[in-house]
Amino acid sequence: MPVEPTEIICRRLVGRTAVITGAGSGIGLATARRLASEGAHVVCADIDETAGKAAAEEVAGLFVKVDVTDKDDVDALFRTAFDTYGSVDIAFNNAGISPPEDDSILTTGLDAWRRVQDVNLTSVYLCCKAALPYMQRQGRGSIINTASFVAIMGAATSQISYTASKGGVLAMSRELGVQFAREGIRVNALCPGPVNTPLLQELFAKDPERAARRLVHIPLGRFAEPTEIAAAVAFLASDDSSFINATDFLVDGGISGAYVTPL
Ligand SMILES: NC(=O)c1ccc[n+]([C@@H]2O[C@H](COP(=O)([O-])OP(=O)(O)OC[C@H]3O[C@@H](n4cnc5c(N)ncnc54)[C@H](O)[C@@H]3O)[C@@H](O)[C@H]2O)c1
Repeated sequence: MPVEPTEIICRRLVGRTAVITGAGSGIGLATARRLASEGAHVVCADIDETAGKAAAEEVAGLFVKVDVTDKDDVDALFRTAFDTYGSVDIAFNNAGISPPEDDSILTTGLDAWRRVQDVNLTSVYLCCKAALPYMQRQGRGSIINTASFVAIMGAATSQISYTASKGGVLAMSRELGVQFAREGIRVNALCPGPVNTPLLQELFAKDPERAARRLVHIPLGRFAEPTEIAAAVAFLASDDSSFINATDFLVDGGISGAYVTPL
């Protein structure tokens, strides 16, 4: 089972500055807590002002209101991080959406396709483009881009633009990791499996049979907790992962390793 955050005594990120997009909720929020607990200055970016502010307050960090699809917003985010704390050491480019209108290719319209590409993929391009010059000047940096296990394997219930966007995040991260490695910058794609979110909990409460059908695919027999994904980000952000670069870093409880037959 996951380790309680109160039991964590790692202080691997003292003095480092971490920018987190989508810090107001879910994986981003858990990561803001974790990186702060490891000593980092955390810049919490989110389009949701209330959630983002609350996250920043909780971790004694800085809130910046950002729409990650907007180049000026993203450039201002990394500039503010640098101006406030003097460095940009970690970029966790994590904000993403999976709206219901993104479904089978047969029913997903161009507007829904483009919106998901913008928020999930173009945003990562913008954030990497903005973060890299700071990291180049420092000769140091760790970029972690949130992809998904669906970038590695096909999902039985299609979300066509989401899956394609995460495949793009994965391929882009790999290429950036190769290009900037000799400048001391590592770039990895984080590929979480399904995480225990309010949405998933609702599904469990409503329809235990559908839930059981999903769990059979997960060797560990449960969904991930956000804190477990945050722990992986903290590792990738820290020097403990100094030889880990340009990877598809799976945190999926073994889903992608399993050949599963129905219950
Ligand atoms: N939850 C899962 O099961 C799961 C699995 C694999 C990958 N992921 C990925 O992990 C990331 C985080 O997912 P989560 O479950 O924590 O989501 P979440 O919905 O809990 O949080 C996402 C945050 O991003 C913010 N956001 C959305 N659009 C934005 C925009 N345009 N600009 C700035 N901020 C914006 C939201 O306000 C929210 O606070 C996403 O990229 C998601 O695709 C999630």
